[in-house]
Amino acid sequence: MLSQTVYDQLNADCGGMTTIGNEDIYKDYRVRGYEYGPKFRGIVDFSTDFKRHSYGSVRWAGHMIAYLDSLLQMGGPVVPVKELIVPVVFSYLKIDPNVLFKEIDANNISSSEVAPEVEVGELLADSSAAAHVEEELENEELAEMRSKMQAITGEAEHVKNADAVLRSYCSVDQMAIVAPGVEIHNVTGASIGRKVHPAPVTVEGHQFVAHFEEVANENLLHQEEVNNGSERAAELAQYETLCRWEYGQLRKHFGLQSTEEEISEPEKTLKERFLGAKEGTNVLLKVLTTAVAELVDENNNNTNTNSSEEKEPTLISTSEKEQLQQLNSHLKAVCLKLATGGTESSSSSVETPPSSTDELDPIQAALVRSYLHADLTASTGAEERLIRPLVDLVAENFVPAKELTVLQLATEPQLPLALKVDRYLATSTIFKLNIDYNLVHLKGTNSTVTTTTTTTTTTSAEAASSEQMPYNFTSTAVEQWPPVTEDQQQLQLKAQPHLAVIVDDPVAAGNQKKGSFFDLEDGQFWSTLAGSTTLTASGFALVLLRTSLAPIERQLYEALFEDSEVPTDEELKRRAETVKAQAALQHFLPVGSKASHGHLALIFRFSPIDPQQPAPVFSTVVFEGDEQRWLETVQAKLRAVNGDAEEGDEPAKQDQESKKEKSTEEAAAAVEQQIVWLLADQATLPGALGFFNCLRKEPGGRQFRLLFNLDQDPNAEDALRLFNRYSVHLTKLDLAVNVFKSGTFGSYRHLTRNLLTAAKLTTEYHLNIGALNSNRNDLGSLALVDSTGERQIGHLPVKGGLMANVPTRERKYAVYSSALNFRDVMLASGRLFPPVQLLTQNCMIGTEFAGRDLETGERVFGIHHGGAFATDLHQLPLYVRPIPPGWSYDDAVGAVTVYFTVWYGLLYKARLERGSTVLIHSAAGGVGQAALHVAKAYDCTIFATAGSPEKRAWLAEHFGLPENHIFSSRDTVFEREIRERTAGAGVKYIVNSLIGEQLDASLRLMADNGHFIELAKAEMQNNKRIGTFAFLRNLSYHGVAIEQQIFKETHRVGEFYDWMLANCEVGREDAAVKPITAHVFSAENAVTAFRFMTTGKHKGKIVIRFREEEEEKTASSTIAPAVPRLAQTRTYFDPYATYIVVGGCGGVGIELAHWLVKKGAKRIVLTTRSKTRTPYQALSLGTLAITGSVFQFFTNELAYYSEDLSTEEGVRALIRHVQTEFGPVGGVFHLAVSLADGLLNGMKYAEGWRRTVDSKATLAVHLDAVSRELCPSLPYFVCLSSVSAGRGNVGQTNYGYANSVLERIVERRRADGLHGLAVQYGPIGDVGLLSELDATGGSGVQAFASVQLQRIISCLEVLNRAMASDHPVVSSLVFAERSGGAGSGAGAGGTSEGMLHHLWSALGVDPETLPDHVTLGELGMESMFGEFAQF
Ligand SMILES: NC(=O)c1ccc[n+]([C@@H]2O[C@H](COP(=O)([O-])OP(=O)(O)OC[C@H]3O[C@@H](n4cnc5c(N)ncnc54)[C@H](OP(=O)(O)O)[C@@H]3O)[C@@H](O)[C@H]2O)c1
Repeated sequence: MLSQTVYDQLNADCGGMTTIGNEDIYKDYRVRGYEYGPKFRGIVDFSTDFKRHSYGSVRWAGHMIAYLDSLLQMGGPVVPVKELIVPVVFSYLKIDPNVLFKEIDANNISSSEVAPEVEVGELLADSSAAAHVEEELENEELAEMRSKMQAITGEAEHVKNADAVLRSYCSVDQMAIVAPGVEIHNVTGASIGRKVHPAPVTVEGHQFVAHFEEVANENLLHQEEVNNGSERAAELAQYETLCRWEYGQLRKHFGLQSTEEEISEPEKTLKERFLGAKEGTNVLLKVLTTAVAELVDENNNNTNTNSSEEKEPTLISTSEKEQLQQLNSHLKAVCLKLATGGTESSSSSVETPPSSTDELDPIQAALVRSYLHADLTASTGAEERLIRPLVDLVAENFVPAKELTVLQLATEPQLPLALKVDRYLATSTIFKLNIDYNLVHLKGTNSTVTTTTTTTTTTSAEAASSEQMPYNFTSTAVEQWPPVTEDQQQLQLKAQPHLAVIVDDPVAAGNQKKGSFFDLEDGQFWSTLAGSTTLTASGFALVLLRTSLAPIERQLYEALFEDSEVPTDEELKRRAETVKAQAALQHFLPVGSKASHGHLALIFRFSPIDPQQPAPVFSTVVFEGDEQRWLETVQAKLRAVNGDAEEGDEPAKQDQESKKEKSTEEAAAAVEQQIVWLLADQATLPGALGFFNCLRKEPGGRQFRLLFNLDQDPNAEDALRLFNRYSVHLTKLDLAVNVFKSGTFGSYRHLTRNLLTAAKLTTEYHLNIGALNSNRNDLGSLALVDSTGERQIGHLPVKGGLMANVPTRERKYAVYSSALNFRDVMLASGRLFPPVQLLTQNCMIGTEFAGRDLETGERVFGIHHGGAFATDLHQLPLYVRPIPPGWSYDDAVGAVTVYFTVWYGLLYKARLERGSTVLIHSAAGGVGQAALHVAKAYDCTIFATAGSPEKRAWLAEHFGLPENHIFSSRDTVFEREIRERTAGAGVKYIVNSLIGEQLDASLRLMADNGHFIELAKAEMQNNKRIGTFAFLRNLSYHGVAIEQQIFKETHRVGEFYDWMLANCEVGREDAAVKPITAHVFSAENAVTAFRFMTTGKHKGKIVIRFREEEEEKTASSTIAPAVPRLAQTRTYFDPYATYIVVGGCGGVGIELAHWLVKKGAKRIVLTTRSKTRTPYQALSLGTLAITGSVFQFFTNELAYYSEDLSTEEGVRALIRHVQTEFGPVGGVFHLAVSLADGLLNGMKYAEGWRRTVDSKATLAVHLDAVSRELCPSLPYFVCLSSVSAGRGNVGQTNYGYANSVLERIVERRRADGLHGLAVQYGPIGDVGLLSELDATGGSGVQAFASVQLQRIISCLEVLNRAMASDHPVVSSLVFAERSGGAGSGAGAGGTSEGMLHHLWSALGVDPETLPDHVTLGELGMESMFGEFAQF
């Protein structure tokens, strides 16, 4: 029983500590990845000195499991790494119900009300940590403990209904937890993968894109994209080559001439890759390959059945024409078969397959056409780079409308295209947008409907029913276009479309004379579209055309659709010109176009002339140097367009038109027609874009247009002059955003950036685990990662810890080979919980290497703490030795850890005696072979086991073991057999790697005074129980975990190397150390090597080679660079540099500081004006401060800077201070923000506008200027921007403006060759300004937003990738799954009145006086929560 005196003493020891309340404790836990439900949030308060003690109060709410879980949580907040770590083992748990229940009774504050009964399962489900433990660590002990706990509380009915807060104590250094009646000792934790969020993170670049682009895929801003663009071109070229080659094979089969040459091996591999691609893509190649394969099969069958007969040519025909006809009909049949569902006979879906002369009937033709649409060559036209910037034009001009209607016209339904357009529209805004998407296609065509989850192909002439359609999609099949009356009725558009998507079909186009569906060259088509029931005025028409066909595509079309006229490229080009001309005649004005690889995407704005409508009245606002005056002018304009303009609101010279006298009605009409042009230059109003994006979402914002001049040249025209020059063009098109750059108009666009696979070709890389959007639970997350810039961090002087006595100068080595251990596979596949220490490393896998000292050229081998699957690494010389003469790199690397294990277990610990008996389990493995060599050298009688007969035979042959000494490791027969052969004595030394009953059998087999050398870590991790009775026979049990010893007993490493090098002479028969057999893989096939290890088929070691061994094995031979490979980019921080985090004590800042330290930074300066520390800040910064004392790699110096930063001088003083006190600056992170949200209408200049703009934009300007001056080669300059700048948010014009300034600054820096990055984050869920008040856990935001809260861990992972990429502006959002539009949830007013009221109040708007056309759906989220946070 815990003595009350001891407890009180402990209690008294805890004075003067940091005290944290329940909310902050569980906020910290949430950041770490725990999702404790209310019943498990038992810690009421908590005080700690971070080093020795924590003291707190824990609630007893009637449930023993929840109470114990909460007690265990007492240790969590002081674990320095912010990871999800669960207690997996404790050595001692004692519960004294008498003491516990007495304490509960004494502190019970519950009313007499009986607490509801809660099931244990229900409780566990509430605790994510507990659930993980359940899942991963279910074992007998846990089950037994649980039932005991239930029994304890079950017997004491009265405590079940009690509610008491009990004191508890946690010894931080001993990881022991003590509470009245409860003691838990030696708690050991392990990290488990955390779930980030169910939806993937969308990472996009935000950049200028011209409206008109000649070659969309190549006219890109950034090198990486240019590479992708040309890679795309190369990919298409390779694809076409392969298709041509297959077609050539086909021609040969039919006796036709073919000039195609044999394809190379790499091309064959590429073909396999293309064919293995996602179902429904690369269909051309699939058709051709299948067509060839079927003929080959047919031939083989013929040969087999008539083996005695001479082989006939496949098909004999008389004339070339007939041969071609036969080829074409074969192709048709194959194509039709594949189009109707794969390799089955086509008879099930198609009545009559085409005969040699038959044409495809219209249904078949449509079916085949539709199938071919998915091909790489054809689908290029629907790629994001072509269509998304054009679709975004639609959103940019109509949002904040809550509903958009789209009409898609194509011969076939083309659902994949529709899904893309729908997604682009939906993700253009952060508010829920209801998109009514109508697919209209020709009746009688097939419907290949591909939803995200299913692919349904019907051959019926009818259209896909709406049930098959995803949310808000309808599909209508019509006889003709324009639809006849009956069709018209079917086509129930809810509103006139805002966008018409029209897909031209080159083959159907050629087929026009056979009964057209629609003909884009015919003026009738455009007049129908312009007609009163079709497109809305100012709506858009997106037309997708072909301007050329790839030669192989043409060949196939001609083969499949013989009679149709497949148009020539010239005809296609002419057609595109005619389409433009016809559209123009009907007032469809071209506003953008993108061309790429024979595809053309055109977008037109429908701009009808309506004599009934008064012409719009234009006015302009130009920034003229006085920001306050400019802002007030915009506010006045806003009031005017909202109809509440007051006389004198607007400066007279700005708007002559609005000064005219008008009647009230006329005035109202004029208000509707008032268009305000904001004319902005980057030099004077750099944040115009973000400002405008937010303004457009506010009441009256729709009347505004922006001309933003990005050209910085002082001699170039400014925005006003540009407007004067282009006013006719601009006002006619009437586009909301007009950005002018390099002589052309365009806008800023979001385009997907796959930073996950952002990679660069490099000769310095390593194999690592884990990826964005994936948990570490599958070998698939293994990837080569760029190591350039990685600085090893173990080589700085350390204060204490494992390596305290170790010389600290590391050397750099070129790695030639490294070898796999099963532990690497277990870690990479998430099956081994990494000890907490391992989490502190950049890389956990790879512990042995062989290579050369980059300074001396010496051939060496060595041990590493993780990261040895690399081209280069740093290591302390004490872990490295010269490779013995005559040994190769592969020999050396394969020997290190296996011989260390054997030496440590068998020789050092068990003191192997010569001539003894030894049993070596799994003897064909690496350690097994090493043990065999040692045991043989010690003249021992050896018994061995292995998993397969083949391995056993191999052991007999290679090690000369008698066959009756080798047994299966899969059963326990060895026990009986060995006992017999040793006359009942058993074996003196057992090297064990078996588990379960084989382990038990082995233990029983031990001879008196025997030694059991245990290598089976899985059993140790499971805390396998062994009886101690047997130890009365003087037995010894040696646990061997060399990875611990390597870093704890460093001198032991030297002893091992001395022994190894003294016993490895090549050619000496009795040498104890001989090379182990190895399977060798190249670095490119590293993942295969990992998978191979899981099959258990290997003998000895598995080696991964990073460089080839050179002929000349001397120190003077040249060290060749590793083979360049594409490796994922990552960010590393320099341990010698100092990182400045401005706003570093804010929510995101603190987590960023933890992350910086984890990634190698050691010196961090956090700026903070207030110096005040909230309990959460104290907790989180406190744990950061102690990180270094617990984990030597994380020694860090944390400093705070509180001087004024509002001026350039202030910022200069900061940087100078850091340089003088700490040394070079490694990076500046600008996170400061002071929100002052409100509708622009009523925003005050000083308290509203300037407060936010100064905290972000002005500070950024100073940081940029000063860092250019004082640290011109600054490695990182990072600003946190917001979705408000990129996509706009109501009530945040100041914030949108300020963030946009940051974005222009980083773009400028990149253009000047400096680092610069701004990340537009969406709402962050667990820390920061939004989380402070989102007590709903995100549901509040999700009710009306299209985006979800992003976890900080995920934000930092995006940052990791983005910092290493070459995109200056990146956005990071988690989009919610689309299950409902604005019509559902709070976006349509579904939220309670109270919440609505609050939201408007937060924006400074009196809810009673709300403009009725603005709804909650138009509200922002950072705004409301941010503002609440300021109260
Ligand atoms: N949290 C989100 O959901 C979210 C979403 C998108 C983008 N972001 C961006 O992420 C960054 C960090 O946000 P956060 O959530 O961590 O905000 P936060 O918790 O409010 O922290 C911001 C910090 O900025 C400092 N600060 C304010 N005004 C300043 C000024 N004039 N000069 C110097 N420092 C000033 C304050 O620190 P002191 O009072 O200690 O000086 C404050 O703690 C911001 O740039 C924000 O725009 C956040």
